[in-house]
Amino acid sequence: LDIDGYYLPTFDKIIPNQEEEVRSIRTWKAKDDDVLLCAYPKSGTHWLWEVASMLLNGSADRINLNKASAMLELIPQPMYEDIQSPRVLNSHIYFRMLPEDFVKRKCKIVYILRNPKDVAVSFFNHHFKVLEYEYSGKWENYIHRFLTGQVDYGSWFDYTLDWEKVIQDNPDYPIHIISYEDMKKDGTKEIKQLAQFLGVKADEELIKCIAGACDFERMKKEKNLLDIATADEWRDKELGIYRKGQVGDWKNWFTVAQNELFDTVYAERMKNSKFQFRCMV
Ligand code: A3P
Repeated sequence: LDIDGYYLPTFDKIIPNQEEEVRSIRTWKAKDDDVLLCAYPKSGTHWLWEVASMLLNGSADRINLNKASAMLELIPQPMYEDIQSPRVLNSHIYFRMLPEDFVKRKCKIVYILRNPKDVAVSFFNHHFKVLEYEYSGKWENYIHRFLTGQVDYGSWFDYTLDWEKVIQDNPDYPIHIISYEDMKKDGTKEIKQLAQFLGVKADEELIKCIAGACDFERMKKEKNLLDIATADEWRDKELGIYRKGQVGDWKNWFTVAQNELFDTVYAERMKNSKFQFRCMV
């Protein structure tokens, strides 16, 4: 689906009139306590969605059912309106596409960053394994698509630079940046900071419980059990959202030449960016 040059996967089985719905997002009403997670796909949205939901619920006892049911571009407006507050929404769309009311109310945004080399590998696996895409290409071809933005949700560079500009241009807007790599390095510290940003009183015990409940292997096991009915949608019936959950898996995929190419494109596209990513070399 092409919305003024912005490519989205076609979700017409889930959301009829998807184009109309996505175009109407600008007019949706927000609630003051809405929180929105924004990220380029494969940056750890499922993970942070779970963490943020647990913080707002004040409990790590329950893994939430379905992130997709709170994803702006994947749900029709009535479903959006029915989500119970406090709402933890999520999206891969650009800031300029968000509900005007949401921006006017200065609802909190958590922006998630991840090393783009790992994002590329994760996204390749996603495209390859989700049968709906009917994609059976090879990694050596995919990397070119990724670098030129010929994938759904478009270019990682465009998306990331746009958010950086939004953050710079709106210093008063409450946007909290969190990185996948920092979460992996010291989840407790990051969750504590996130709690502060969200205005949630969370004691050490709760933070520790949330970090434990959202540990990759635990989350994978629990979520895959909940998602088992959707196994037919995946290649070889293997659920693939919780794949490897590591920093630096790109090193198992990139050849030396691919890495050089990536670094060259990265250096050119990100030359004015202040974002820094761990494990790029
Ligand atoms: P990999 O494919 O590298 O394993 P998103 O949720 O934005 O689609 O991102 C998916 C990526 O986040 C996948 O990366 C997935 O394994 C990883 N992920 C999901 N839950 C995680 C968790 N609890 N801890 C660490 N990584 C997680």
